[in-house]
Amino acid sequence: NSGMSDSKNLRIKLVLLGDSGVGKSCIVLRFVRGQFDPSSKVTVGASFLSQTIALQDSTTVKFEIWDTAGQERYASLAPLYYRGASAAVIVYDITCMETFHKAQFWVKELQKHGNPNIVMALVGNKADLEESRSVGHDVAQAYADANGMFLIETSAKTADNINQLFEEIAKRLP
Ligand code: GTP
Ligand code: MG
Repeated sequence: NSGMSDSKNLRIKLVLLGDSGVGKSCIVLRFVRGQFDPSSKVTVGASFLSQTIALQDSTTVKFEIWDTAGQERYASLAPLYYRGASAAVIVYDITCMETFHKAQFWVKELQKHGNPNIVMALVGNKADLEESRSVGHDVAQAYADANGMFLIETSAKTADNINQLFEEIAKRLP
């Protein structure tokens, strides 16, 4: 971004995908309201929230966030939300290998049917539960590297790396 008075205002459609219970809605609630709900309800269909952040170069980025439902019965709705999205946050739970496999399913689906320039983040959530980890950081990093995405481990509970996730997406936008 060149020039001292050159500020931009970007609007970004972002979709969250991943298995039920991995913490998608909690990540969004933490990012948008700074809160954590230990008794978060399963999402029905999808929910929409927005949040604006300012980058260091005075660019502002308004994220228009579609938080999808991870339960299998809603899987066929996903294209409605990822179609036209500029960014995708694909979430798994570091304590549950099955959710990492589900994340790989969503990566493949986006590679086939998503916007070709989409910025993809692979997010290992519940990083506060290190003692129950079953998805190694190295395994996830290798997968992210091989698929042109970045990996970040977060905790919606402690807020660890939540803002960093969205800042990193903003930096990588084309
Ligand atoms: P669906 O809406 O069904 O797709 O699930 P979801 O991915 O939106 O999960 P949700 O955000 O509702 O969180 C599910 C459960 O995980 C809740 O009981 C949360 O309290 C818990 N949870 C979410 N994030 C974290 C986290 O970072 N750490 C811990 N320890 N628990 C978390
Ligand atoms: Mg949810």
